[in-house]
Formats: sequence, structure tokens, C-alpha cells
Amino acid sequence: AEAALLEGFESTIAHNDRIEPRDWMPEGYRKTLVRQIAQHAHSEIIGMQPEGNWITRAPSLRRKAILLAKVQDEAGHGLYLYSACETLGTSRGELTEKLISGAQKYSSIFNYPTLSYADVGTIGWLVDGAAICNQVPLCRTSFGPYGRAMIRICKEESFHQRQGYELLMTMMRGTDEQRAMVQESVDRFWWPALMMFGPPDAESPNTAQSMAWGIKRNTNDDLRQRFVDMSVPQAEALGVTLPDPELKWNEERQAHDFGQPDWDEFMAVVRGNGPCNAQRIAHRRAAHEDGAWVREAALAFAARSHDTTTS
Ligand code: 3HC
Repeated sequence: AEAALLEGFESTIAHNDRIEPRDWMPEGYRKTLVRQIAQHAHSEIIGMQPEGNWITRAPSLRRKAILLAKVQDEAGHGLYLYSACETLGTSRGELTEKLISGAQKYSSIFNYPTLSYADVGTIGWLVDGAAICNQVPLCRTSFGPYGRAMIRICKEESFHQRQGYELLMTMMRGTDEQRAMVQESVDRFWWPALMMFGPPDAESPNTAQSMAWGIKRNTNDDLRQRFVDMSVPQAEALGVTLPDPELKWNEERQAHDFGQPDWDEFMAVVRGNGPCNAQRIAHRRAAHEDGAWVREAALAFAARSHDTTTS
């Protein structure tokens, strides 16, 4: 019977159809989906902190309103993804504990500080731009709830990228100080943005299996290359330089050659030794503990209203 179930699963994957929560699936498939979707959701929630840092200091009401909308969107992205993950038999409470205890990770990019207001634009342009490169293929991921969440998220992500790019374009048309602020921000975020795509394929333990299961539709290096090729003309239009001396067009490859990120830095940040890891988790833990009374009250209210309706 299990052989028939596995055959059914494999033919669904082979036909690029969706596996739905009630379908039989190999335990490894479920496990790597929980791992990836949970960490994706954690990334959205933790990602609210670096940008949230500038909401009270946005330079105009318009910029504040845009930033508020974007940070709220990220919370929503987290909720869509926790809900997709719950269809695999976990709970968002359990996943939150794993995030706070360090048992599950979130994207390395959010462990870097946002030191100037230009970072709000750079995060929109480069970080959300990288997210778009990574998330568009995930709309076709083999697990139904994850792919459908991605379709909604990608629509909002393009607003995130455009608002960031427009913010930087405005600053580049401003004073020399503003132009210098943008360039300094880009210099700080370019390499960490390339690290978002994960380690090189040769050092990626999950890519081969995730590609075979249709969870990933492209490898880490493919998407990183796509992001570099997309960003170079945008940087030229903006009037900023990218901090990579090896970056140059390769006519033969019809793609840009570029330098390697500092993979030791990447591993250190992923292991918890980045500039902001402790601060990000402490902030998330505090928010979770400060919100405990709301959860308790809601559960007590639900229990009481359940008793009154059934008694
Ligand atoms: N930060 C932290 N950990 C990372 C990482 C990164 N940038 N890149 C890879 N890792 C981890 C992986 O999780 C894995 O560890 P694990 O087995 O303990 O989970 C290990 O490093 C090896 O990496 P692999 O390439 O083998 O792992 P994956 O096959 O899972 O590929 C990934 C990594 C490309 C990030 C993939 O998980 C993925 O596509 N995830 C979904 C997208 C996502 O999470 N994006 C993060 C940013 S979310 C975002 O940008 C929100 C936007 O609104 C700003």
C-alpha cells in the first residue's frame, strides 16, 4: 500500500501538480517543508524590526505611512506562512517557541542594523528585490498552501521593492549628503543581500532533494545570478555603484560575473554571531511575553463563551 502511495506522490510531483495537506507524503518531504516554511515565516516577522526602527523617524507623513504599510504587510506575510505551515501538523505557538529558543532560524539579512534612513530604501530595493527573485519561483512549489501563499505575497512584495527604489531615486536627486547616504547604505547591504540566496549550490545540503521534490524550482546560485543581473541596470539608473570590483558583464555567458560573498561571515551570522542576532531574538521574546496576557484572556473568553453556549 505504501508503495502505491509513494507512486501517487511521485507522479503528482512529476506532473508539476500540487501536493495538498491531506495527501500522503514522505516524512522527509513534510519535514523539509516545515523547516523551510517556518524559517520563511520567521524571516517575515523578524524582518519587521530593522525597518520598524525608522517608523518614528520617517522624514514625512507620506514616508511614515508607506513604511507603516510595508511593515504591516510583513506581519501578514508571516501569518500566511505560519498558516501554510500549520497544515503540516505544527502550530504557530510551537514555531514561535522554536524561533525564540534558536531551534529554528530566520534570514541572515535581518541580523544587520539599519543605521540610516536610506537603509529603508535599500531594504526595499535590494532585500525585497532578492525576496522577489526567490519567491516568484516558489509560487510554483509543489506544496499547495505554500505556493498559494507565495502568489499573494509576491503581489505585495513588488510594492515593497518599488517604494524602496522610488525613495532612493528621490534621495539621489537631492543633496550631495543624501547621495552619499544612499551609496553608504548600498555598500553595507549589497553583500548581505547576495547571502540571502543561501550557500553556493556545492555547499547546499538541501537543494538537490528540494529540487527533486519540486519544493525549489531553481538552485541558490541560479537565483543569485538572476538577482545580480536584475540589479546592475537598476543601480546604473539610480547612479550608485555596487561594491564588487569583480562585477562585469560577460558577453559569452550573457550574464554578469561577480565576486563571492564572505561565506565565513555568512556562516557566523547563520550560527547566531551576526551584528544583531541577540537583539532581534530578545525583541521577539519580549513581544511574545508581553502578549501572553492577551492570549490567556482570549482563551479564557473562548472557554467561557463555549460553556455558556453549551450549558
Ligand atoms: N539565512 C539563514 N539561514 C540560511 C540562509 C540565510 N540567508 N540561507 C541558507 N540558510 C540555511 C538553511 O536554512 C539551511 O539550514 P537548515 O537546514 O538548518 O534549515 C542551511 O543554511 C543550508 O542551506 P540550504 O541552501 O541547503 O537550505 P535551503 O534549501 O533551505 O535554501 C533558502 C535556503 C534559499 C533560504 C530556502 O530555504 C528558501 O528559499 N526559503 C524561502 C525563502 C526565504 O526564506 N527567504 C528569506 C527571506 S524572507 C524575505 O525576504 C521577506 C521579505 O519581505 C523581505
